[in-house]
Amino acid sequence: MKKDPTVNPLDKLPAILKKDLHKNLCVCNEVKKMDIINVIANGADTVAEVKKQTYATMGSGCCKQQVERLIECLCTTEDE
Ligand code: FES
Repeated sequence: MKKDPTVNPLDKLPAILKKDLHKNLCVCNEVKKMDIINVIANGADTVAEVKKQTYATMGSGCCKQQVERLIECLCTTEDE
């Protein structure tokens, strides 16, 4: 994924995913949504990579779908 530091990763997210950025997305391991967005924006483009860097999804895995959704939104290329 080519990174452009001038692009705000939040611009890629639909409004509904921009809520509660400073609350824990992963409540099992207390990982804030914003921290997860930041690692994805910095190149973590799989759940495994996000897990490695933040420990999100490492509890019961209950936030996995939310992490996948963020990856989907943040890692799409602008070719449409
Ligand atoms: S909320 Fe993240 S593993 Fe449960």
